[in-house]
Amino acid sequence: MARDVITLITRDHRELEEMVDRLAKEPEGRERLVGEVAARFAAHGAAEEEHVYPVVVRAAAGVAGDRAGAGAVVPEAEGGGADVVRGAREHRVAGEVLGRLCACDPSSPGFDDLLHEFVDVVVRHVREEETRVLPALRAVVDPAGLERLGEGFERTRVAWLRRSREDAAGRGGGSGAPRPRAGEGASAAEERGARGRPRG
Ligand SMILES: [Fe+2]
Repeated sequence: MARDVITLITRDHRELEEMVDRLAKEPEGRERLVGEVAARFAAHGAAEEEHVYPVVVRAAAGVAGDRAGAGAVVPEAEGGGADVVRGAREHRVAGEVLGRLCACDPSSPGFDDLLHEFVDVVVRHVREEETRVLPALRAVVDPAGLERLGEGFERTRVAWLRRSREDAAGRGGGSGAPRPRAGEGASAAEERGARGRPRG
């Protein structure tokens, strides 16, 4: 199975879109599903901001070498910096909207308004990343580097998901996605488990 970071991010985008679609179309189980979406989006954003955005920003600034040790960043890469700033801003906006969604009664009219707001942010995030940020990344990191970035992306993403599920279980349900402790990773088995589709 391909493990390069672009494949992993794109796959995560499709899964997030599918979950948001279910959230809009299936009123039953919304309370649980919105918590899962919040955790998944937070994990996705944290992993991108830790492993992907810095590489694109450095490449845009003309700095060789990436923190994952890919060793193939090309200094003359163009663009990407502004897109990354916008992407990080969208992660925060989406997180704020999700926080309000989690606190909102799923049967209230306000829930649908917030859901539409969140869908807009997700659609914009996915379009920007897949048309600008990920092509910029592919232009400056070689295939081996993309695989190494993929390992880091999944390690961070899965650690976030594991912690948020532990926290939710400790609360007897609910949602949330706290930042994992430094150096916290995940085993391949945990990765496979976290990749499973959420129930509901
Ligand atoms: Fe993304």
